[in-house]
Amino acid sequence: MSAGVTVWFTGLSGAGKTTLCGLVKAGLIAAGARVEVLDGDDVRRHLAPDLGFSREDRMKNIERAAFVARLLSRNGVIVLASFITPYQSMRNYLRQELDPYIEVYVRCSLKECIRRDVKGLYRKALRGEVPRFTGISDEYEEPVNPDVTVDTEQCSKEEGARLILDFLRRRSFI
Ligand SMILES: Nc1ncnc2c1ncn2[C@@H]1O[C@H](COP(=O)(O)OP(=O)(O)OP(=O)(O)O)[C@@H](O)[C@H]1O
Ligand SMILES: [Mg+2]
Repeated sequence: MSAGVTVWFTGLSGAGKTTLCGLVKAGLIAAGARVEVLDGDDVRRHLAPDLGFSREDRMKNIERAAFVARLLSRNGVIVLASFITPYQSMRNYLRQELDPYIEVYVRCSLKECIRRDVKGLYRKALRGEVPRFTGISDEYEEPVNPDVTVDTEQCSKEEGARLILDFLRRRSFI
């Protein structure tokens, strides 16, 4: 059985986490790997419908996702986890809990995320209609020690996905 790993994508809403996960997933499947995506939106719907966006609830959401990631990765699955994961304390927790753990910082300026506004949430948040929205009414702490940084304003999504796949190949996960 090939080694599993959790690849954790962190970044602002609209930075490109889900987009990159999809492309990396396709690349991994093409390479014959077993892969599963854990996306923040799905996990909140299915595993954390009781949770809100306070610091404590956000942490619980991450803990539940990490639990699932651990189950999968220890069975040889490459887990692609896409969560804003706004606080450094969360990422410290993940690095401690998950082994192996690869952190991908999906970097994009707040200005560009607001311009993209994929879900229309920035527009609402800027009108004060979304309490504790990351980047507007809640903080996003820049990752201090990501393994890979993908700047989605500087490179295309295909280039970003290739960067991550190359990293996984160098580390012998594929
Ligand atoms: N280089 C790039 N890499 C990734 N996405 C890009 C890039 N350039 C533009 N985009 C666009 O940016 C948007 C990113 O949206 P996406 O849903 O992936 O963000 P997200 O980080 O998953 O946000 P959320 O936290 O709200 O789920 C998409 O519309 C995507 O096409
Ligand atoms: Mg997403």
